[in-house]
Amino acid sequence: MASILTVTGVSKTYASGHQALKSINLSIARGEILALLGPNGAGKTTLISIICGLVRPSSGTVVVDGHDIVRDYRASRALIGLVPQELTTDAFESVWNAVSFSRGLFGYRADPAHIEKTLRALSLWDKKDARIMTLSGGMKRRLLIAKALSHEPRILFLDEPTAGVDVELRRDMWQLVRELRDTGVTVILTTHYIEEAEEMADRIGVMRKGELLLVERKAELMRKLGRKQLTLQLQQALAQVPAALAGFAPALSADGLELTYTYGTRGQGPGMVAFMHQVDAAGIAYRDLHTTQSSLEDIFVSLVHEERA
Ligand SMILES: Nc1ncnc2c1ncn2[C@@H]1O[C@H](COP(=O)(O)OP(=O)(O)OP(=O)(O)O)[C@@H](O)[C@H]1O
Ligand SMILES: [Mg+2]
Repeated sequence: MASILTVTGVSKTYASGHQALKSINLSIARGEILALLGPNGAGKTTLISIICGLVRPSSGTVVVDGHDIVRDYRASRALIGLVPQELTTDAFESVWNAVSFSRGLFGYRADPAHIEKTLRALSLWDKKDARIMTLSGGMKRRLLIAKALSHEPRILFLDEPTAGVDVELRRDMWQLVRELRDTGVTVILTTHYIEEAEEMADRIGVMRKGELLLVERKAELMRKLGRKQLTLQLQQALAQVPAALAGFAPALSADGLELTYTYGTRGQGPGMVAFMHQVDAAGIAYRDLHTTQSSLEDIFVSLVHEERA
């Protein structure tokens, strides 16, 4: 797959001496949506800021569609739209002017039809003449997205785009991002809403303490790290796990009435069929049973937690 963005050995140590990034390598395919997850301070914004040319890397290179971001800054930057995490806006400007001006900054010809389409898509059309300071927090965030889209970027960075945006509008924004992707735009987003990553991303990257722990296709991540649990509600309390089931290492609840077997979603351990077979063979009677499957959130928490240990 042709990659539109290649990050090679990028490290960043801030003047304070804090090492925010440790040799990041990342390649992103044209037209994909990548979600970067990680706890506060993991280095997500630093990485995005380096790619967008706002922060200088201490070492390493970034190439955007064939353009080195340092040697060929203007060409690479023109391909990028950035929705920053921090809300910084010119309070007295009108919505329309702010978005039009952003387009002009990149040397593009004025295109009122494009600005109108963008404002409508972000439900900001009826606010086009409003001064920015009169907008709500969620509207201001949508305005940042409109500004980032003003020059029709090929790669869009969304640094926590839906923080403070209500549920309905968040769904509208997801829809907008998908439509952009369908027109060939590559999207890199950070989020603390795991549901957002689960909903949108083709691939998921997990960062922690300046390192990129993994980058994996979403389905592959769920398959590799996901776990299922089968819980049996027993008819009679057990004093201990029966010897016949010891090989499955199930957990017995304190009252002895619930037996829980944890297994991989594919290929890890003997699996649920073998377990149930053994339960029947051992003559263990149960009233009910249910299974649960780990979510992306469970996987994320366990990954970040593991590294903390
Ligand atoms: N300008 C700066 N000078 C010094 N240290 C900085 C600077 N910007 C960020 N850092 C530090 O670098 C680390 C990574 O910060 P960064 O903003 O990249 O994290 P993040 O993953 O985006 O976190 P969040 O989820 O809170 O947005 C943090 O420890 C932060 O304090
Ligand atoms: Mg950040």
